[in-house]
Amino acid sequence: MAEQKRDGFSSKLGIIVATAGSALGLGNIYRFPCEAGTNGGGAFLIVYLGIALLIGTPLMISEFVIGRRARSNPLSAFRRLEGKTSSIWSIIGYLGVVCAFLILAFYTTVAGWTLGYLGKAAANQFAGQNLAQIQQQFADFTGHAWLPLFCQMVFLALTAMVVMRGVKNGIERYSKILMPMLLLIMLVLCIKSLTLSGAGEGLRFFFWPDFSKITGRVLISALGQSFFSLSVGMGALITYGSYIGRNDNMVSSAVGVTLADTLVAVLAGVIIFPAAFTFGIRPEAGASLAFTTLPMVFQQMAGGYIFCLLFFVLLVIATLTSTISLLEVIVATLTEELRITRGRAAIVGTIGTAIIGVLATLSFRPDSPLRLGNNTVFDLLDHLTALYLMPLGGLLIVLFVGWRMGRTNVLDELTNSDSLPLGLRRGIVFVVRYLAPVAIAIIFVSQLME
Ligand code: PHE
Repeated sequence: MAEQKRDGFSSKLGIIVATAGSALGLGNIYRFPCEAGTNGGGAFLIVYLGIALLIGTPLMISEFVIGRRARSNPLSAFRRLEGKTSSIWSIIGYLGVVCAFLILAFYTTVAGWTLGYLGKAAANQFAGQNLAQIQQQFADFTGHAWLPLFCQMVFLALTAMVVMRGVKNGIERYSKILMPMLLLIMLVLCIKSLTLSGAGEGLRFFFWPDFSKITGRVLISALGQSFFSLSVGMGALITYGSYIGRNDNMVSSAVGVTLADTLVAVLAGVIIFPAAFTFGIRPEAGASLAFTTLPMVFQQMAGGYIFCLLFFVLLVIATLTSTISLLEVIVATLTEELRITRGRAAIVGTIGTAIIGVLATLSFRPDSPLRLGNNTVFDLLDHLTALYLMPLGGLLIVLFVGWRMGRTNVLDELTNSDSLPLGLRRGIVFVVRYLAPVAIAIIFVSQLME
């Protein structure tokens, strides 16, 4: 019964597209190069790939299992699965909703920048500029009195508008054509970057692992980045999982999404690091890395104006499909728990996010009091979610699916009318029960002790 009332994805393609829409975003194009650049390049990449494939995918499957079995938001999912009116495991749901708020707050800061940069691209503001001028543009924009705030609020409003229209109409439709287009334009950019003079040095930095650089900090950063990039560990995919049809194969969807997400992150690295080395931008430049290297690359390209414009249009949309999935966690929870309409829930969620989000955006001003030493409010929110809340949420999720939900229930969800080979089923259960929790716990504890 509940199934009929809930909105749902129309097809298997719908799940893949919506999940990929959630996964692909600033995490790949902005945050991944930033993290790889500050955590040793190749050493980070190798740890990242291992974690994304070995822990990220099983975690994604676990979230789908919980969501589809419970058919509800991440808060009540655990009560339902436990068959009780209250369950200690609901803490995962609470953590997830808090996490969704906090991520959305700082994510929309950068989302706002993408809108601002779309405007700059349209106005051809990068043409003929040298590196110093492009860097100055970034500093001027992020430190501007009201522009970044305005862009952030526009972005939040756009997100709310889509979410109000519901899962199928809103979320599915926007991603279907636009994500493949983004991939295509990134391939073109890659080719351009590979012809730049610093390509060799950039590729060496990005692909050549210096194992001595692998520290506890690198491990937790790679873990946090892979969870962040795959949208796992905070209930977004429990929510999307609850819209998956009974007969859809979620294992292949999860594998497909992980591969696509990883591919886009690696492509972003192949675009950004050769460019950074060519133009003399430090790979550990942090927040400004993507927003200074990319305009420089476009400037060197034939047809750069059009490519730049198209790229930022697609980036805005990729970012929007991620913010939608974040707001959807909040909206699904508020509508089902407080029994208010989607519209109201979206407004409440948006206003709540906006209040914290303003602080994140203002903390980029050079004289901002919202800085503690080198750390901005933005950094604090980013670290709190990616390095603490998501790993903790991920750990609890695999423990729940591996040890609490019951093997038959899990296998029942995984098998899809016995279409999944036995070996694969066993492999997934092994990873979810043993490998993933142990690995997450070790990494989490090791960084706390550093
Ligand atoms: N995965 C998104 C990205 O890479 C960000 C995100 C995190 C979205 C968590 C939803 C949940 O941009």
